[in-house]
Amino acid sequence: MPENKAEKDRQKSLKELVNALNEDLSREYQAIIAYTIYSNVLKGAKWMSIAAELKLHAAQELQHAMIIADQIDYLGGMPTNSPKPVKLSDKPEEMIRFDLDNETETIKNYRQRVKQAEAVGHYALADQLRKIISQEQEHQHDLATALGIDVPDVFCEGA
Ligand SMILES: [Fe+2]
Ligand SMILES: [Fe+2]
Repeated sequence: MPENKAEKDRQKSLKELVNALNEDLSREYQAIIAYTIYSNVLKGAKWMSIAAELKLHAAQELQHAMIIADQIDYLGGMPTNSPKPVKLSDKPEEMIRFDLDNETETIKNYRQRVKQAEAVGHYALADQLRKIISQEQEHQHDLATALGIDVPDVFCEGA
């Protein structure tokens, strides 16, 4: 088969995309674990409504993991079995802060992934990622509201 530079570059970009999606999948696993734990251990009347919210987040993160794993498989990759590490704390504010930081990191990464998916012409994936981003932004907003702060800016760093 003749070597074609454009096709070689595309294959390289696809491989990078699959590797990056596996990082995203690790973050989704991390989110599932964190929300499962935190929603159950948060104590105090002040935190009860956010605890119920976190249970909904856990279920949505599982849906995201399923979508990302499906897309990795579609692109010929093997979905990872490793979550990013989950921090523990006995302080409610800290747990919610960990979640918020993770959501912000996740959104930054997905914004980058939309660009990568479109660069290789994978528009269906880009579309799926956009839907996930809007849910992650809702998560981020719920957490920031519970902490009484503004939503962190994800539009910096060109992301
Ligand atoms: Fe997610
Ligand atoms: Fe999320």
